Amino acid sequence: MKYSNAPIGVFDSGVGGLTVAREIIRQLPQESVVYFGDTARVPYGSKSKDTIIRYSRQIVHFLQTKNVKAIVIACNTASAFALEAVEAELDIPVIGVVKPGAKTAIETTKNKRIGIIGTEGTIKSELYTKYIRGIDPEIEVVGKACPLFCPLVEEGMLNDPVTDEIASRYLKDLKEENIDSLILGCTHYPLLRSTVGKIMGEGVNLVNPAYETAVSLGKLLEEKGICAEAEHQSEYSFYVSDAEEKFKAFANSIMPFHIELIEQINIEEY
Ligand code: DGL
Repeated sequence: MKYSNAPIGVFDSGVGGLTVAREIIRQLPQESVVYFGDTARVPYGSKSKDTIIRYSRQIVHFLQTKNVKAIVIACNTASAFALEAVEAELDIPVIGVVKPGAKTAIETTKNKRIGIIGTEGTIKSELYTKYIRGIDPEIEVVGKACPLFCPLVEEGMLNDPVTDEIASRYLKDLKEENIDSLILGCTHYPLLRSTVGKIMGEGVNLVNPAYETAVSLGKLLEEKGICAEAEHQSEYSFYVSDAEEKFKAFANSIMPFHIELIEQINIEEY
C-alpha cells in the first residue's frame, strides 16, 4: 500500500472521540481511519496526568501495529495531559484537539473574553488557558468543569429537560462573565451544542474543537505531503477495550454510516 494511503489513528477514552472521527470522515473522505475507544478505562476526565500518559502510550503502541501514518488524540483530557509525552516518542505526526479549538477561539473573540467548558481534568490542567494566553496575554479565559455532561450524552439525553436544568446550573456563572466565545472543550459537548447555545445566547460563538481538529489535520497532512490519493477507497475500523454493544449503539446513533464490526482488544498488552 502507498504510504500516503495508510490510515489515520484516532483515539479517545470511549465514544466521545467519534465526534472527531466523524468530522475527519466528513472533511477528508479519502482518508482511512482506525478508531480506538478505551471503553474499559473511561472516564479519563477524573484521572491523574500520569495515568492518562500511561494509557495514551499503550494506545499509541496499539495504533502503530495498524501502520497508521498520523495520530489524532481525539480526547480533550488526553490532549491536555499526554500530547507532549506522546509526540516526543513518535516519528509520525500527532495532533490533539486542544490547540485547534483554542486557535479558533483566539481568532474569533472580539472582546478578548473566552470561556471553556470541559472535564475536571481538562479544566484543572489549564492547558487551554495557558495556550491561549501564550498567544495573546490580554485574553481572559474562564473555565468551568461540567462532569455530568458526558453521562447525559451517553444516555442519549440530548434534548431533555434534565439536561437543560443541569446545563443552566453549570453555565450560570459563565453567563455573567461577558464571554463572546465558548470552547466546547470535551468530545461529548458538540452533541449538546443546541442546549448550550440556547442558554448562552446568540452573542456567544460556540467553538467546536472536533471540527477545527479535522481542519488542522487536513492542513497537516498536506504540509507533510501524506494526503491519501483522491481515488483511494477509504476504510474505517473500530476497536474498543471493553464489550462493544454500548459503543456500537452510540456509534450508530451519531455516525453517518452503519458500523457492524467492532473488535475488542486487551489494551493492557501494549
Ligand atoms: N473524552 C473525554 C474528553 O474529551 C471525555 C470523557 C472522559 O472523561 O473520558 O475530555
